[in-house]
Order: sequence, then structure tokens, then C-alpha cells
Amino acid sequence: MKRIGILTSGGDAPGMNAAIRSVTRTAIYNGMEVIGFRRGYEGLLEGDVIPLSVSSVGGIVHRGGTILRTARCERFTKPEGVREGLQRLKEYDIDALVVIGGDGSFHGAYELHKLGFPVVGIPGTIDNDIAGTDCTIGFDTACNTALQCIEKLRDTASSHERLFLVEVMGRNAGFLALEAAVAAGAEYAMVPEVPFDLDLLCKKLRYAKERGKSHSLIIVAEGVMPASELQSLLKDTGGYDARITVLGHIQRGGSPSSFDAVLASRLGAGAIDALIRGEFGTMVGRINGEIVASPIQVSWEQKKKLDTGMMELVEILGI
Ligand code: F6P
Repeated sequence: MKRIGILTSGGDAPGMNAAIRSVTRTAIYNGMEVIGFRRGYEGLLEGDVIPLSVSSVGGIVHRGGTILRTARCERFTKPEGVREGLQRLKEYDIDALVVIGGDGSFHGAYELHKLGFPVVGIPGTIDNDIAGTDCTIGFDTACNTALQCIEKLRDTASSHERLFLVEVMGRNAGFLALEAAVAAGAEYAMVPEVPFDLDLLCKKLRYAKERGKSHSLIIVAEGVMPASELQSLLKDTGGYDARITVLGHIQRGGSPSSFDAVLASRLGAGAIDALIRGEFGTMVGRINGEIVASPIQVSWEQKKKLDTGMMELVEILGI
């Protein structure tokens, strides 16, 4: 294995740069050359490449976003696109490809693997919705960003004795919403994995008011419904006048937390180790503290389970 390619794909996540640095430096340490494809699979198809060196990945371990840029590439979801990508990889004399991204990006990598091309995936997404790893790169930072925002909202919610609905990202998963709800001491969390009961929620809010609570915070995962829809439901059902905040893309930015920078550094090195060991068609993850390579399709074939005990915790602590 002499020359490897690397790309970031899908939604960016804090820690992707730390992963790029780790892949690049570990590969060079092991005598390989590294080529970066910019804008994910889009850049692979268009030949948008930059050589990566020890110094070109210097000073990025703490930076949010991705120096390689990223994109969601429709063309690469089609067999012709994948075949074209394979052709480009051959033209650039690439022996293996490291893909940093979520399960959509891993689907593309799996298609290349099925055509016989060596690939390894590194899970990077704030959604944490990938099996085969306890945590994805960016999740911890996004939780901390959401927490900081919710703490600020609590100040104003408390001063005005208001009910706030905070919509957080996560696509179809509730990991980010649940983690943020527990950390922020929210009264209620709504996640796609658990059906929600509007009557129960209204009862809780009434009880909170009777107890003299100065404010209430409800964290709603975007996969359940937009906060604006919940706002209308609460108005119609219980006469509540709630304020809403959609945290949105702010959750994807910022410097990685120490947890994410370390995770990204370990997974980057783990990806090169997997390639050296010939463990192709895999994704590297951290399970119980160990770096483990699993078949890449595990990331979507196995559904990562949300800890519903945490839902109960929100329930108990938010009385
Ligand atoms: O997958 C990461 C994520 O931020 C999701 O939480 C969110 O639903 C989606 O990407 C937003 O995508 P876009 O940046 O394309 O609007």
C-alpha cells in the first residue's frame, strides 16, 4: 500500500480535521503518500485533489469544519457514479480510500469495496446514529454546543417565567436531543425512538406550574417534529404560549472538544492500521475504549440503540 486517498463527505462534524491530520500523519509515518479529495465524492469524480503532507495538516487539530470541504453527492449514489469514481482512483494511482462521514458516505464506500477497491470508513457525524462505535466524531462537541445554548435560554426563560421549546438536530435519531436534555436538566425530551404523549406532556407542564417552577424547557429532536409544530399543538391543546429556538447548524461548528479530538486522532490512526492489516471494507469505531474494525455495512444494518433509561432519567429528574 503506497498511496492512499482521503475524503470527508456528508454533513461536517467537529473533529473531522483532527481525523484528516491523524490519517495523513500515520500514513506518512508508515511510508505512504496521501492525496486528499475535496468536496467528498464530488471532488473524487471531478478530480479535485490536493496532496497532503505532514506540514499541510499542521495547525488543524483544533479547527472545526473540514479543510477538505464536504458535500452530499447524488451522482455517487448511482452505479455509474461509483464506476466513474473507481476509474478516477485508478487514474490517480490510489491503493486505498479512507472515507470520513456518516452512513450515507459509507454506502458509497461499500459500493467501491464491492467492486474490489480497498476502503476504510471513519464515523464522523454529530448525529451519533452509527452502529459499530459508541460515539461518532463530532457528537460530543455538538452536545456541548447545544448545552451552552440551552443554558443561555434557561436564563431568559427563568426571568420571564416562560416555556421554551428547543429543536436540536439528529436527523432520524434522538441521541443528541437526549444527551442535551439530561445535561441541561430539561423538563422533557422528545426523541423519534420513543412515541410521545401530548396529554402527559401537558400534565407535566401544569404540575410544574403548580409547583411554582420558574420556567420549563422541552428539548425536541428534529426527527420528531419541528418545534413550530409542537408550539401549535401545545397552544391548541393546553393553551400554552411557548417560545421556540431552533439550534440548527450552529451545532455542527466550533472546535472539537478534547473527547472528539482524541477520538478522531485514535480513529484516524486506527483506519491506517486496518488498511495495513488488510481489513478492507471496514469502519473503525471505539467500543468500550478499544479501537475496533467492523464490516462497514454494520453502520446501517444494525440500528444503534438509544438508551431509553436516559429518557426515564429526564422524566425523574425533571419532576
Ligand atoms: O447529519 C448531520 C446533520 O446535521 C443532521 O443532524 C441534519 O438533519 C442534517 O445534517 C442537515 O443537513 P444539511 O446541512 O444538508 O441541511
